[in-house]
Amino acid sequence: MAQFRGSRGLVPSRGVGLAPQFYFYNIFLCFFHGIDYFTENVVKYMKRFFYTVVGFRYVLIMNTKILTANQLDICAGIIKEGGIVAIPTETVYGLAADAFNPTAINKIFTAKGRPNDNPLIVHISKKTHLTKVAADIPPIAHKYMEQFWPGPLTLVLKKHPALPAEALAGLPTVGVRLPDHPVALELISLCGPLVAPSANLSGKPSPTTAWHVMDDLAGKIDAVVDAGPTNFGLESTVIDAETGKILRPGAVTENCLSAVRPVFSGLSFTRKEINTPTAPGQKYTHYAPKAKTTLVVCKEPHKKILHLASNTVNKKNLGILTTDQNKHYYEQLGATVLSLGNRDNPQQMATLLYSHLRQFDTKGVKHLFIEGFLENHGFYLTIMDRLIKAASYDIVK
Ligand code: TXA
Ligand code: MG
Repeated sequence: MAQFRGSRGLVPSRGVGLAPQFYFYNIFLCFFHGIDYFTENVVKYMKRFFYTVVGFRYVLIMNTKILTANQLDICAGIIKEGGIVAIPTETVYGLAADAFNPTAINKIFTAKGRPNDNPLIVHISKKTHLTKVAADIPPIAHKYMEQFWPGPLTLVLKKHPALPAEALAGLPTVGVRLPDHPVALELISLCGPLVAPSANLSGKPSPTTAWHVMDDLAGKIDAVVDAGPTNFGLESTVIDAETGKILRPGAVTENCLSAVRPVFSGLSFTRKEINTPTAPGQKYTHYAPKAKTTLVVCKEPHKKILHLASNTVNKKNLGILTTDQNKHYYEQLGATVLSLGNRDNPQQMATLLYSHLRQFDTKGVKHLFIEGFLENHGFYLTIMDRLIKAASYDIVK
């Protein structure tokens, strides 16, 4: 990734900011999508325009500051005083607070509307800091750390007694990760360890840009650090460090994990199969767009989708999430069709997944059909895990 030298060392150049033309373009788009789209989105785009033009890089709107990667000293000050700040990581944006401050931790649950039986992940900036937050670390955990840290792997370990129960929903364990993002690492070194769940409203797709964060949490959090889009676009893999069991599939695939110890995760296609989830968060609605969402998993999903879509009278309400290989099948439909790109490049598709799910909301889609994937390996598995949950288990085979 290209970098420039900021006042506090190397930061990603994508942190420089978003172009004002982007917001003009979106306002312009409103006129093409009709009055419904206009009324639904004009306030949002005017707000973004205002953030950009009035304050450009540092504004105070509805009590949420937008900071750059060069303003991490301000960010650290807010966190040390018990505030909550959205920060970039290599996976998704996280909503960070001091891991040892129960009042600040409670603010995260309130801002997100998160059920308080769902524990938070603790983020550290050095492997040696693991002993500050975890206890009785098994030797195998060091193998995972050597192989995957810094990176998108969360290890569930026995918690350190000093960690407040508020962060861990009263569990005796803690999920810990060392993110692979220069901004996150620098901030954690200034004021960490930090707890950070994904910085979205509970139930919605995780944010992969600072603007996704603002759409969900403006006015509810103290600040967001805008460092451009995240690299992976999907959350970290969560494993039980002792057994190696995958608790949540994520950006480190089971194939990669097998370098340390063989694992098999498999997908749950029905809600019943996750009645006793190992990661508490897995039982809640996740990644869900506003539209009623149906996931179609079969050999030629476009055929089934075109058949199902033929029952919808107003095609303008229809959305279809497809790939470059299949998008031409929907050209005549008059629906909102978004492509994740080349279906043979799942890692790249993952980077677009959440922003596309959010775009269907923005475009006012009422019924969304998603093409699923039959490949059950690597990143396809993680994408399918998220799609199954986005569709709330409404799956057509
Ligand atoms: O990539 C990520 O992991 C992002 C970035 C910001 O680090 N964070 C994230 O956090 O996705 P969150 O809270 O949205 O999801 C964490 C998941 C939840 O499903 C939670 O239940 C599970 O990890 N988890 C956390 N601590 C756990 C523990 N002690 N035992 C089992 N599962 C745990
Ligand atoms: Mg989350």
